[in-house]
Amino acid sequence: MCGIVGYIGNQDAKEILLKGLEKLEYRGYDSAGIAVRDNSQVHVFKAKGRIADLRAVVDASVSANTGIGHTRWATHGVPSHDNAHPHQSTAGRFTLVHNGVIENYSILKREYLEGTAFVSETDTEVIVQLIEKFANEGMETEEAFRQTLKLLKGSYALALLDEQNDETIFVAKNKSPLLVGTGSDFNVVASDAMAMLQVTDQYVELMDKEMVIVTKNDVTIKTLDGTVVERSPYKAELDASDIEKGTYPHYMLKEIDEQPLVIRKIIQKYQDEQGSLQIDQNILDAVTSSDRVYIIACGTSYHAGLVGKQLLEQMAKIPVEVHVASEFGYNMPLLPEKPLFIFISQSGETADSRAVLVAVKELGHKALTITNVQGSTLSREADYTLLLHAGPEIAVASTKAYTAQIAVLSILAHVAAASKGEAESMNLVKELGIVANAMEVLCDSKEEMDYIAREYLSFTRNAFFIGRGIDYYVGLEGALKLKEISYIQAEGFAGGELKHGTIALIEEGTPVVAIATQENVNLSIRGNVKEVAARGANPCIISMKGLDTDEDRFVIPAVHDLLSPLVSVVPLQLIAYYAALHRDCDVDKPRNLAKSVTVE
Ligand code: AGP
Ligand code: GLU
Repeated sequence: MCGIVGYIGNQDAKEILLKGLEKLEYRGYDSAGIAVRDNSQVHVFKAKGRIADLRAVVDASVSANTGIGHTRWATHGVPSHDNAHPHQSTAGRFTLVHNGVIENYSILKREYLEGTAFVSETDTEVIVQLIEKFANEGMETEEAFRQTLKLLKGSYALALLDEQNDETIFVAKNKSPLLVGTGSDFNVVASDAMAMLQVTDQYVELMDKEMVIVTKNDVTIKTLDGTVVERSPYKAELDASDIEKGTYPHYMLKEIDEQPLVIRKIIQKYQDEQGSLQIDQNILDAVTSSDRVYIIACGTSYHAGLVGKQLLEQMAKIPVEVHVASEFGYNMPLLPEKPLFIFISQSGETADSRAVLVAVKELGHKALTITNVQGSTLSREADYTLLLHAGPEIAVASTKAYTAQIAVLSILAHVAAASKGEAESMNLVKELGIVANAMEVLCDSKEEMDYIAREYLSFTRNAFFIGRGIDYYVGLEGALKLKEISYIQAEGFAGGELKHGTIALIEEGTPVVAIATQENVNLSIRGNVKEVAARGANPCIISMKGLDTDEDRFVIPAVHDLLSPLVSVVPLQLIAYYAALHRDCDVDKPRNLAKSVTVE
């Protein structure tokens, strides 16, 4: 969600900042801005809309070697030019960008800034005004910044310019992601390493409630009580080509196509030299010694968690509950003596999940994060991490991370089962190999998916996805994919539940996508299809080879039934993609959405 970049060095800061912001576009935003320093003057450029709109208003004649930039995902105040960051203090001395939410901004306004004229509706402006107020009272900038940080409640990643100090960018973070990148004769600031990979692959992690004094040749990290913290940079293991679209029209399509490769990479990453699947012994002990596993996640990751429950319960015989993170924090169930918490998060930065992590750590429970981003907040703060190895996922609609999450959960379940002495339910390496091949076949069926999207979804306002058991979970994901990128109202339902109310919405021609990959519920889901068809629905049955009949619209290759979500989701991802294309939607950056949701 939103992003920050900063640069201090000898090169043209404008271009580095704009390129950096372009790399952060995938996170979701509604306006953007940069502030650059031309000798003693700070110039601010902002625009509602896309980075391209910002580029159009940046004065090319301004020459600057220092600057900060921002993409905003509005939380306080509509997306507009005035609310876009950077924000400046009344006298114009300080210029600030902020990601996050300041929860006590109105109290601070009332208590400290009576009489100050505000130009935006944002919570952010309070921060920059407070800094100027403390500076006017005689504090050095660093001290004014620190005093302000001490007053803030909420989440922030901040980068600040002081017109009277041309050698420094002041930086701070709490709960919102922020890194400092290092180079020779320059340093940078970025919400994630991808943004500044063009100039450096060396990054220093920042912890909550730290502030950083960044100059061209130095990075000094301090705690809020002024103690200097030493921390060495790490190398961002990212390949610049991973974050390019290549010949693909959209990241989403590229990421769908990458899925077979990701499955093969996961097998390889979790195999030992003898070819056996392995999980760190500490993680295994935590899983097998817990009396109940709680999977906590949001959105697509939550849907992967539902499949994970089936895998852990059926393969390893461990009881599992799956919870939406934003609900769990306020509605915690009665916990057993030794719960283990598994957080599933592509980005590793989702604020709702993090709030639960903080709460359960305070209660003294163990936590494992399954994430795509090494060094992300959820990974750092949990006791253990399992990586997805899916490569950067840029499209807002998650595809390869979902299948990678299920694949990693299957490996965890498989190895946990073995360590508990449970009977082996399958040769997982072989079965995942079959999955990867099946995915390839499906990725080659794009024309057919395009056709299905046209046939069923071109003129509809709504659509339903039904399934039973594990197919129901895939239906939930299929519906989420479709609604988030095509804006067709889509709902996933348990096949048997539809007739308890929702069937009232079925009209002549309503598309109902039914997923049928499980033998034990094959007849009953087909019965549910008959029920909706009898009321005028236009059913589209996607079945698995071996269970297929003449009435099916598409048949996926046969894979092990517990792993079927890895395969049955692919046509649903592709159908959503083509439905969005046919409706001229912005596939990779759907309206109102952000890639990493860093506010609760
Ligand atoms: C997926 O298509 C969504 N954009 C969204 O539901 C996402 O899965 C959710 O916000 C969780 O994100 P995370 O995996 O990074 O925690
Ligand atoms: N809360 C701030 C605003 O609404 C920052 C939002 C963001 O993180 O982009 O302007």
